[in-house]
Amino acid sequence: MDGAEVFLFGTQEINDKGHLTIGGCDTAELAKEFGTPLYVVDERLVRDTCKAYIAEFGRRVDRVEVAFAGKALLTTAICRVMDQEGMALDVASTGELYTAVKADFPTGRVKLHGNFKSDELLTAALGYGVGRIVVDSLSELERLSRIAGEMGKDADILLRVGPGIKTQTHSYIQTGQADSKFGMSIASGAAMEAIQLALSLPNLNLRGLHCHIGSQLFGLDSFARAVDMMMDFITQVRDEAQWTCDELDMGGGLGIAYTPEDAPPTVAELADVICPALTQAASARDLPMPKLILEPGRSIVGPAGTTLYTVGPVKTIPGVRTYVSVDGGLSDNPRPALYEAEYTALVANKASQARTMAARVAGSHCETDTLIPDTTLQAVEEGDVMAVFCTGAYNHAMASNYNRFRRPAMVLVMDGQADLIYERETLEDLVLHDVMPGRLSEDGQ
Ligand code: LLP
Repeated sequence: MDGAEVFLFGTQEINDKGHLTIGGCDTAELAKEFGTPLYVVDERLVRDTCKAYIAEFGRRVDRVEVAFAGKALLTTAICRVMDQEGMALDVASTGELYTAVKADFPTGRVKLHGNFKSDELLTAALGYGVGRIVVDSLSELERLSRIAGEMGKDADILLRVGPGIKTQTHSYIQTGQADSKFGMSIASGAAMEAIQLALSLPNLNLRGLHCHIGSQLFGLDSFARAVDMMMDFITQVRDEAQWTCDELDMGGGLGIAYTPEDAPPTVAELADVICPALTQAASARDLPMPKLILEPGRSIVGPAGTTLYTVGPVKTIPGVRTYVSVDGGLSDNPRPALYEAEYTALVANKASQARTMAARVAGSHCETDTLIPDTTLQAVEEGDVMAVFCTGAYNHAMASNYNRFRRPAMVLVMDGQADLIYERETLEDLVLHDVMPGRLSEDGQ
């Protein structure tokens, strides 16, 4: 970004001190009060995006459920916000399920995912009364049927189907193509086999089908193709297995703008592609309209998150570049290292100044953890507060303790109020699970 260009989301503004504000809170003050690195979540933007999904899809089809993909960002407070907005919730591990339960999220609106769900996880899901289990393999069908029988319960399931669609996104986050560990492919016959098996096994209610074609997607045509592939398959299943699909889950995947050059479709544009594709496919094939389920993660929380860092040493290497170090990096945001993900930054306490300084934003881990390789910043100095935008999804969720860094705190901001929703980890937290075997202790006992 050049000049004084601004790239703001949701409730972000620049106040008369020239400071970035989010949810009416001055980010320089937030950094002082809560310390840095700090994840700041714009509650209004999260809520507005949930409302947009429910309204845009709800006005185009009769039956729709929007489930927040908790893998993008999950804490008990986030679960509560989702519940208040009438969202359903996707979980993909025992830990995510436990978080939802601890937040009193209605478990009937929880859907469980995963390509390897342990017996412990399936038992927990049935025990907590999870609404849908999205079965990913033939062996999982058999295990679930057995466990449900032993518990005297019936499991309501969806089958995860691989539609064989290649999408335009980083190869690490493509999931619907033929060569994938997820689901059972239509082309190989595994999906049909799974349906026959699910219908024949006791204690399973097959409610519908699921697919998820990838993440950070900008091309809406992939979604339209996926709807068509799924509806073709649903027709085939009706004819060959005499089973009617009542729920069709099209997964998540809508991309977001990490940089001003990114132009993702809006939620309304997504709905404008998926809903007519579904309605037309159903009427052309004389199928009843299934309930439409969506599972957005990134597009709900991504733009609502901003990470605040304190700027450390600013080093200019003559003829090379200027490195601006911040007090976080790989451990709070592994996405640049994992996916070459791009981010945009602003000097939060100099937000109204022109961008004049070419720099590389570097993390503070013991390796080359570049956060932003080439950017132009306001004249940045040690002690400033740096805001990195669009960190709401897959940042806290993928954070680690590398170099024994403590995971940052997270605050939810709205209407001038900031509430802590994740405490900064402590040094004691870091050694909590360390065990000193007796033979290593000083007295050898
Ligand atoms: N449903 C299923 C079954 C999924 O696997 C995912 C994401 C979603 C929904 C939500 O997709 P979204 O709306 O967030 O695109 N760590 C990667 C992203 C991995 C996505 C995994 N599945 C990243 O940081 O880009």
